[in-house]
Amino acid sequence: MLLNRFEKLLMNNPVREAIQRHLEARWLLAMGGPVAGARALEIGCGRGVGTELVLDVFRAEHVDAFDLDPDMIARARERLAPRGDRVRLWVGDAEHIDAEAATYDAVFDFGIVHHVPRWRDVLAEVYRVLKPGGRFYAEEVLAKLILDPVWSRLTDHPSADRFDGEGFRAALVATGFEIVASKGLLDRFVWFVARKPTAS
Ligand SMILES: C[S@@+](CC[C@H](N)C(=O)[O-])C[C@H]1O[C@@H](n2cnc3c(N)ncnc32)[C@H](O)[C@@H]1O
Repeated sequence: MLLNRFEKLLMNNPVREAIQRHLEARWLLAMGGPVAGARALEIGCGRGVGTELVLDVFRAEHVDAFDLDPDMIARARERLAPRGDRVRLWVGDAEHIDAEAATYDAVFDFGIVHHVPRWRDVLAEVYRVLKPGGRFYAEEVLAKLILDPVWSRLTDHPSADRFDGEGFRAALVATGFEIVASKGLLDRFVWFVARKPTAS
């Protein structure tokens, strides 16, 4: 589901970038470690800040990244142009990732799974495109915030079948992932690192 004008402003501003760069990337790095030399994927990359962090902080060699919103991809193309062929961008849907099975060493989700009505299908797609032993780094927004009366008036999100932290963990495990580490904040946000088992 595309962002409304309010949430797009929240995402495309220096405060969001500072939070992603100085808090979330550091937390996820501490939880799951770097992915030096990796071929990585970012789903729902927005304007491309996360892709920069996957290259610079997590030390991936190459990042593929896509978003449902062509305007976000246009912004990401501009931002990431100096990175040359270390980045490939396209307009795409996380429910049907345009990649072969077992392509990536790591997949990154900075707050996109909760935007998808059939969010479990995204987890299944992430699992499919990860190599055995590959890691999934996720930052997610929980039902308590999405269904908050004020927040739900300000933003557009699917409202049925939203998850709490335990629901997200259970869905990861049901998909086949092993949980490496997790962290929550105020029952409204979670960060997970999960791993596709080597023998799967
Ligand atoms: C909350 S924003 C986060 C953007 C970016 N990851 C960030 O942290 O700044 C969610 C993003 O997911 C994208 N999105 C929503 N549904 C999607 C889908 N099914 N497939 C791919 N991207 C999607 C939206 O267009 C939006 O850019």
